[in-house]
Amino acid sequence: MSDTPQQAETEAGTKAPTAKETTQTSAAATPTAEDAPAKLVVKKGIAWIHLDDPQKSVNTLSTRYFQWFEAQLEALAAQPLKAMVFISDKPGYFIVGADIEELQAFDDPAQVLEVIRRGHVFTRRFADLPFPVIAAIDGVCLGGGLELALACDYRIATDAPHTKLGVPEVQLGLYPGLGGTQRLPRLIGVPAALDLILTGKQVSARKAKRLGLVDEVCHPSVLRQAVAKVVGWGKPGTEDSVPQKKAKSSFSKMAGDLLARTPGAKRLVYDKARQTVLKKTGGHYPAPLKAIEVVKEGMMLPLDEALELEAKGFSELVVTDVAKGLISIFFAKNEVEGRAAKIAKGSRHVDHVGVLGAGFMGSGVAQVLAYKGYQITLKDRDHVALGRGLKHCNNLFAELVKRRKLTPVEQKLAMSRIVPRIDYEGFERVPFIIEAVFEDVDVKHEVIRQAEAAGSDDMIFASNTSTIPIGRLAEASKRPENFIGMHFFSPVHKMPLLEIIKTKKTSKSTLATTVEIGRRMGKTVIVVNDGPGFFTSRVLGPFVNEALWCLSQGASIDQIDRALTGWGWPVGPLALLDEVGIDIANHAGEVMREAAGDRIETSPIFQRMIDAGRLGRKGGRGFYDYSSKPKKVDASVYGVIGWQEGKVDKEEIVERCWMQMLNETALCIEDGIIENPNDIDIGVIFGFGFPPFRGGILREADKLGLDYVVGRLETYAAAYGDRFKPAQLLSDMAKQGKTFHS
Ligand code: NAI
Repeated sequence: MSDTPQQAETEAGTKAPTAKETTQTSAAATPTAEDAPAKLVVKKGIAWIHLDDPQKSVNTLSTRYFQWFEAQLEALAAQPLKAMVFISDKPGYFIVGADIEELQAFDDPAQVLEVIRRGHVFTRRFADLPFPVIAAIDGVCLGGGLELALACDYRIATDAPHTKLGVPEVQLGLYPGLGGTQRLPRLIGVPAALDLILTGKQVSARKAKRLGLVDEVCHPSVLRQAVAKVVGWGKPGTEDSVPQKKAKSSFSKMAGDLLARTPGAKRLVYDKARQTVLKKTGGHYPAPLKAIEVVKEGMMLPLDEALELEAKGFSELVVTDVAKGLISIFFAKNEVEGRAAKIAKGSRHVDHVGVLGAGFMGSGVAQVLAYKGYQITLKDRDHVALGRGLKHCNNLFAELVKRRKLTPVEQKLAMSRIVPRIDYEGFERVPFIIEAVFEDVDVKHEVIRQAEAAGSDDMIFASNTSTIPIGRLAEASKRPENFIGMHFFSPVHKMPLLEIIKTKKTSKSTLATTVEIGRRMGKTVIVVNDGPGFFTSRVLGPFVNEALWCLSQGASIDQIDRALTGWGWPVGPLALLDEVGIDIANHAGEVMREAAGDRIETSPIFQRMIDAGRLGRKGGRGFYDYSSKPKKVDASVYGVIGWQEGKVDKEEIVERCWMQMLNETALCIEDGIIENPNDIDIGVIFGFGFPPFRGGILREADKLGLDYVVGRLETYAAAYGDRFKPAQLLSDMAKQGKTFHS
């Protein structure tokens, strides 16, 4: 990252200001402070605002910008300027969003409101300048960055792949609070604006042009020429302006205005948006609902009043638990990924990966690797299994073509990178192996021996086992220092987490190389120590097991799954068991029991379901019947498991399940499997969907207080037995009044 505007502009491919230009800097305009977030350069009547905050690696919109700009305004208005242009000196980034750290510090909505109002004054001032104000966007332009651009008279964006535009605030439990909910629908129409605001999706410059969000798209090397062209369009609304250039946005604006005023159409758009949000979020996230309200009401008001409405709603959202939880995940994810990047330093170069087993997981891993440019040798036992695996890969690529993420030519190229084999020929040239054969120690041991015999001496071997201790698998390896666990989640192309398991013998270079491959696959990587079920499978087991105990006590399938989805889980534990496969989950439980002994009290329902051949979705029947869509609870299960109706409160079902998971998490910490609270919270959210708005399992426990948690576990232990006995760590922390996160 460069510190000077000169270097950065050259890297961004635009013309760098010369020393002479910099000395022409308006005397009245620039605070000399070294840490000013931007620099003003005036050249040929154009005021260039070079965004380049020396305190940050990327530009984020904060009160420092407002202050700096306020200090420049008077001088700017007084100069005989033709235009003012915002441009970034940070290569690849315009402004990535608002300064979240600044926002996170607020507990009082009144303080937030004050800051937002100041921001609105800042952006409203652009309109009062007598010359056009232009955003020249080359790089990531999100959230507050796009809102700043929206307040400008014109937006030019480069067609570079790094240029992305969007308002992702909803992912932090917020909505765009610097005019986005009002300027966006006025510019591109209500439906398109709601789509961007409610999903937080990012669009390319070309898509933005089609939406009417930007006025011009150009190559980064001609950004300044494009600016010159737009300057010629004049200040909108003045006599000299050229009105026809914004035909698309004028049309969108008209459509937006029409929608805002036509009761029938209005109801249709806003009600549909509300229903979609409720269906997707179960009503747990206030921000998107509030955004719909604010857009709807704001469109009926003059802009100033609409902005005030937006500011008030935003300031209330910032201090909600949901926003605080989601913001904490944002920081936790950054921290976890930063740590993974450090671990990956010193990794070996790998461009060819051998994948053993072309089943569901193996082919999923191969597809993501091939998508990211790796050469793949995919091996299975026979051609039928290989054919199935290749078809799965091809279907996943076809899906990407459908979503315009790949061209058909790129699809063919990616598929050509996957070479199928039923033997180990050529494996001496494969530096890295990922094994995904059956979950059986003997089968895996055989495969390890064969692969090592065929491969080179420094080949790294990673197993995708979901439960078997890596040390146990490494017993079959000649080179345990090159042996590691690489636990992917299903489906591989969608799930963001990768749990990497190192043993005491795994070398630093093996770990670094494995972490780097995970990062290149686009995964958020956590590194844990070895043990049965590692971290994620180990803590998921007691959660689903407890759901089965609730079922034994007479809660119905529907009640249990609804209780947990009502708490924010994406699917209930019984539906999850059906997805995983009840035999597979039971097998995982056996591996765990082998290590944990009596502490794990397995529900007898597992065996009864397996004996009755009800293995879950793959067999068409589990707790649910999958013969028709949507799936229905299969009432005949109750006979199979000898169920009798009883009463278990919804709150109790929820608490028993997640507190079992928490207790096992504490035991994992005691056993040295995992340590960092961020790894734990990211692991449960990204691995299997612990409700994100709760900020993670440890944040949830901290919020409730560990003395409360321990008290509940003791109550359940008295009622249901030792499986609820609180982990020593929890009891100690509760006594000392400690929390997991500071
Ligand atoms: P699968 O049954 O779909 O695929 C296993 C594949 O391995 C089959 O194609 C089989 O023909 C092949 N195979 C068996 N023996 C082989 C050998 N000697 N050489 C080459 N290929 C051989 O199983 P799935 O679901 O893909 O699981 C594979 C591994 O991934 C297991 O260890 C499982 O625990 C783990 N895993 C599974 C997850 C899931 O959700 N299914 C999630 C995370 C890990």
